Amino acid sequence: MTLNDYLEQAWIRYSQIAPDAAPIHKLLSERGEKVLNDHIAFRTFNLPGMSRLELGALFEAWGYKKVDDTLEFPEKHLLANYYLPPESHYPKVFVSELILEDCSKSLRDWITSIVKKEGFSKITPETLLKRSWAPVSYEEYQKFYPESEYAGWTAAFGIQLNHFTVFFNALKTFPDLKTLNDFLQKNQFDLNAAGGLIKGTPSELLEQSSTNARRVPCEFAGGRKENILGCYYEFAKRYPIPGTKDLFNGFIPKSADKIFESTYEK
Ligand code: NI
Repeated sequence: MTLNDYLEQAWIRYSQIAPDAAPIHKLLSERGEKVLNDHIAFRTFNLPGMSRLELGALFEAWGYKKVDDTLEFPEKHLLANYYLPPESHYPKVFVSELILEDCSKSLRDWITSIVKKEGFSKITPETLLKRSWAPVSYEEYQKFYPESEYAGWTAAFGIQLNHFTVFFNALKTFPDLKTLNDFLQKNQFDLNAAGGLIKGTPSELLEQSSTNARRVPCEFAGGRKENILGCYYEFAKRYPIPGTKDLFNGFIPKSADKIFESTYEK
């Protein structure tokens, strides 16, 4: 599978669990904007065959380069790395993983049993485009959600792309991120206000905002269907590194920490 094929199919799948993404993309396109992606982000577990570095390696095979910068989210028990694309029109790739050793034994046992039961052994571009394992029990999803929303989301949806991100700098008709946020709110889109609508500052070289995830149907064990929070759409404005023309390519853990909460129950 080529990178282009993967991204095209991933967008279709993502649009189903992020029902605001395609309408916002259309709204911006109709305004005459060309929508480019700043980054795509994944959630996974630190288990063999599916760790963040193994997921990242799928993109390295497509020419991506890992940046030597591991981000830590101690409160959420997450580590993350990111990868720069072979050509600038492709999105950067951000991969986080839940460190199961830092979670309760019962949560860790739940996740390992889900993975084992299905004999899921290794992620590939193809597995990222379908549900990784059999639908999980809704009772167990509810039981573990309070301990880790991240674990619940990933167990329910499987290892797949969590969000696309509009690259603000490529937009022509918005002077700043606040104007874009105002425009989206005026069009009835619900934005994540955790830590303020805009996460990050010009001096941090990255400003981000995002929609709040909406409820989407998800299949659970026994054919049970429940509406749970799916994915969000993100917006990122990057600033040049002082003294250069190069845009800052990294991520700010403090901001990303709040963006993760776009899938939280409010
Ligand atoms: Ni993001």
